[in-house]
Amino acid sequence: MILANQVLYFLSPDDLGATVQMLWEKTRPGGVIIATMMGSQNYYRDFVTASEHGLEQVDLPNGKQLFITFTDNRGSLIERFAPYEPMHVGYYDSVVSEREGSGFHHLYVGRKA
Ligand SMILES: C[S@@+](CC[C@H](N)C(=O)[O-])C[C@H]1O[C@@H](n2cnc3c(N)ncnc32)[C@H](O)[C@@H]1O
Repeated sequence: MILANQVLYFLSPDDLGATVQMLWEKTRPGGVIIATMMGSQNYYRDFVTASEHGLEQVDLPNGKQLFITFTDNRGSLIERFAPYEPMHVGYYDSVVSEREGSGFHHLYVGRKA
C-alpha cells in the first residue's frame, strides 16, 4: 500500500505524472494507493500570484511561499492517478479559521488490478 498524504501536490503536473507512473510500476497487482490532493476550492488558491507549467505560486499573507498543483474536480483527480483503477474518490474540508478559509482536499483510493 502507498500512502501519500498532502504531499504530491508539491509536484508539477509533469513530475506528478512521472511519479504516479513510477509508483504504478512498483505496485504489485492488488496493491492500493491512497493519496490526497489540494483542491481548487482550497483558500490557498486565493493567493496564487504566478503560474508556470501548471504549478502555481502561492504567496500567503504570513509570508510563506509554496508551489502547488491544484486539482479542479473529481474527473481531474482520477486522471492524475491513471492507470490506477479508482476504488473510492472523496474529499475532506474544514474551516479552522474564518480569516483563512476552506482547507479542501480531494481523497483518492485506487488499486492496480
Ligand atoms: C502538509 S505536510 C504533510 C506531511 C505528512 N505527509 C503528513 O501527512 O503529516 C507537507 C510535507 O511535504 C513536504 N514537502 C516536500 N516537498 C515540498 C515542497 N516542494 N514544498 C513544500 N513542502 C514540501 C513538507 O516538508 C511537509 O513535510
